[in-house]
Amino acid sequence: MQMKDAITMQTGGAAKAPFYLPQGDEVAVFEAAASHDLPVLLKGPTGCGKTRFVAHMAARLGRPLYTVACHDDLSAADLIGRYLLKGGETVWVDGPLTRAVREGAICYLDEVVEARKDVTVVLHPLTDDRRMLPLDRTGEEIAAAPGFMLVASYNPGYQNILKTLKPSTRQRFLAVEFDFPPQALEIDVVARESGLAPDRVQPLVRLAGKLRDMKGQDLEEGVSTRLIIYAASLIAGGMQVDRAIQAAMIEPLTDDADTKRGLLDLVTAVFG
Ligand SMILES: Nc1ncnc2c1ncn2[C@@H]1O[C@H](COP(=O)(O)OP(=O)(O)O)[C@@H](O)[C@H]1O
Ligand SMILES: [Mg+2]
Repeated sequence: MQMKDAITMQTGGAAKAPFYLPQGDEVAVFEAAASHDLPVLLKGPTGCGKTRFVAHMAARLGRPLYTVACHDDLSAADLIGRYLLKGGETVWVDGPLTRAVREGAICYLDEVVEARKDVTVVLHPLTDDRRMLPLDRTGEEIAAAPGFMLVASYNPGYQNILKTLKPSTRQRFLAVEFDFPPQALEIDVVARESGLAPDRVQPLVRLAGKLRDMKGQDLEEGVSTRLIIYAASLIAGGMQVDRAIQAAMIEPLTDDADTKRGLLDLVTAVFG
């Protein structure tokens, strides 16, 4: 069950591409990677658009997408597949990675550093020119179908030495760095996602900029684009501005009362 919850599937072809506003040349880089069969690593803070970007690109390229939200319990078997008991018989059931390899889909490993160490091992033969997946349990060796692409994301901001990719793994990927978009672009994204008018989104984005400047001092992570969208959606739905900001842009960032007071001072500075 847990395995299912962590996996989503988006069909290729007909799916209308979800809205994505590019920050730079990431669309062109991803398209080039796709046409050269190269795996891609997306680096950047939480909630800055990495997952949305992959969903957008998969639809654009007309390829099915398997997204796996990695967590510390996720093992190689969760990706590859396992024997399951079905009506008294044991049958092999492909995991999302195996399905993507067979179908020529994109497999997206979200927050890949969270996964167990054995996961990276199965990625190696898929990320060099062998492009194959050995299924030790069934003895099968699957050559990746045309269109198969491996994409992974991680957040280099977490200063956790145990949770970073080994050079032997990361040097198999092209890498694209993501960050929160510049103000004008972020206003555009938040307005479109929330339905709140751009002139009302503008101070929220300005506040976010100030909150992000606190990163490293009092805050481990600055406020994400996702959280600004939450605040804007609450306001668009009729909630008082200060209440929405508190719920979406202050409380999620810290539990510390002093830090919170400092953040609320920034709100006053921006909103008066
Ligand atoms: N450039 C962008 N274009 C469109 N939507 C964006 C963009 N950046 C962020 N978003 C919005 O922010 C939300 C969070 O982004 P997401 O892709 O889930 O972040 P990440 O995967 O980096 O943690 C998305 O659901 C989307 O609404
Ligand atoms: Mg994500």
